[in-house]
Amino acid sequence: MNMKLSSSHLDNIPSTPGKFKMEKASYFNRFRWHYSSLAKLTFWSFVFMGLILVFLIKSPPTSPTTSIPSDLSRRSLKTKSWGGPGWEKRVKSSAKIRSPNGLSVLVTGAAGFVGTHVSAALKRRGDGVLGLDNFNNYYDPSLKRARQSLLERSGIFIVEGDINDAVLLKKLFEVVPFTHVMHLAAQAGVRYAMENPSSYVHSNIAGLVNVLEVCKEANPQPAIVWASSSSVYGLNTKIPFSEKDRTDQPASLYAATKKAGEEIAHTYNHIYGLSLTGLRFFTVYGPWGRPDMAYFFFTRDILKGKSIPIFEGANHGTVARDFTYIDDIVKGCLGALDTAEKSTGSGGKKKGNAQLRVFNLGNTSPVPVSDLVSILERLLKVKAKRKVMTLPRNGDVQFTHANISYAQREFGYKPTTDLQTGLKKFVRWYVSYYGSGKKNDH
Ligand SMILES: NC(=O)c1ccc[n+]([C@@H]2O[C@H](COP(=O)([O-])OP(=O)(O)OC[C@H]3O[C@@H](n4cnc5c(N)ncnc54)[C@H](O)[C@@H]3O)[C@@H](O)[C@H]2O)c1
Ligand SMILES: *[C@@H]1O[C@H](CO)[C@@H](O)[C@H](O)[C@H]1NC(C)=O
Repeated sequence: MNMKLSSSHLDNIPSTPGKFKMEKASYFNRFRWHYSSLAKLTFWSFVFMGLILVFLIKSPPTSPTTSIPSDLSRRSLKTKSWGGPGWEKRVKSSAKIRSPNGLSVLVTGAAGFVGTHVSAALKRRGDGVLGLDNFNNYYDPSLKRARQSLLERSGIFIVEGDINDAVLLKKLFEVVPFTHVMHLAAQAGVRYAMENPSSYVHSNIAGLVNVLEVCKEANPQPAIVWASSSSVYGLNTKIPFSEKDRTDQPASLYAATKKAGEEIAHTYNHIYGLSLTGLRFFTVYGPWGRPDMAYFFFTRDILKGKSIPIFEGANHGTVARDFTYIDDIVKGCLGALDTAEKSTGSGGKKKGNAQLRVFNLGNTSPVPVSDLVSILERLLKVKAKRKVMTLPRNGDVQFTHANISYAQREFGYKPTTDLQTGLKKFVRWYVSYYGSGKKNDH
């Protein structure tokens, strides 16, 4: 198992690398603008490499473990790889619109689960797509790399970088006048927030602000669609969850950062005229999914013969989720992009009121987690070792159920995949990717 969940590995990652990246990026830009001849460029490249080596050798270990500085160094070295005519050509070619009235979309978190599927769907219908992802190791990065090669095969380039890197983001907008940003990069996961809270602040708050800062400066400003979460409904008990319900009692730091994101979106819409649409996803699952989610590691552990924890609420209350199949989520994302109005400002100045929306994207039929396990048992033809436990009060809520009538009305959102059908597709993918071997170690 490759998931690195111990805080010793992840303290300040990905928080600190963002700072290193920005320094590198600005050095790099300075010399690229000042010296144009190839000979000089080559000469300065060597000087630059030398500087980096000196920097790496001299940089003192700032952390108790030695593994972190070496990881940082690798990240810093990688970031200098962006820029240059070849790179710009790849960026432009990936973002090139190939159908009439097509969009050109910057997809952040493109190597992630939802990002990969949305990028592929946009590309298929002729939109221009450029990805951005920092390939952090919250879960096995080799799965992110595999998704990257999948996208590469359809001509989608994923720039490797952090959403906090303002220099890089500005450069991307210089090279491509994106009409839309699909902002999916985030620190996901509810329980992990207790282990590494700063990674949530780094990506979901600071990173979001940085993306919006660059978008509001861009001319023209893009329209932005971004991923919030059903977790903003927190401890609410009124079901189904509607967009107008209160969202002021989050049960996890993850939820709190998504809620903060919705308020930050309001601010940028209000001050700068940015068109902003937030999507509250409800437990998304499917092929190429996230290994930290229950349906995924249940599958792995059932195949391994390991026991799986099944949570129940107080007094044996049912824990249920409104599981939503990835293809339905993708349709919702595309619907939101297609109905997004233009931002009204430009170059940091508001010119008029712009659109501000929030939509639930769920399936509208909650399924008890114990039923999820029964479906998996049937599909895998293996009996699960169930270990029933009381739901700990550390972030997970007992029940989610989306009211999707707003998205239905605005862009015809209508989920069509039930859990049984969707899990069948997931399991087929899982077995082809990892093998059905009960000894597999992924
Ligand atoms: N999957 C779900 O059930 C679900 C539910 C609700 C909300 N969401 C939200 O949807 C979005 C996509 O989720 P996902 O399931 O695809 O998660 P994911 O972790 O697979 O994808 C997120 C991607 O963003 C990248 N990333 C994270 N921080 C970054 C940073 N600072 N700079 C650049 N890249 C960064 C990661 O490397 C990853 O590839 C997230 O915003 C998540 O919070 C997901
Ligand atoms: C769902 O939300 C809509 C508003 O978008 C509301 O009119 C409707 O009553 C809600 N339905 C339920 C069952 O709560």
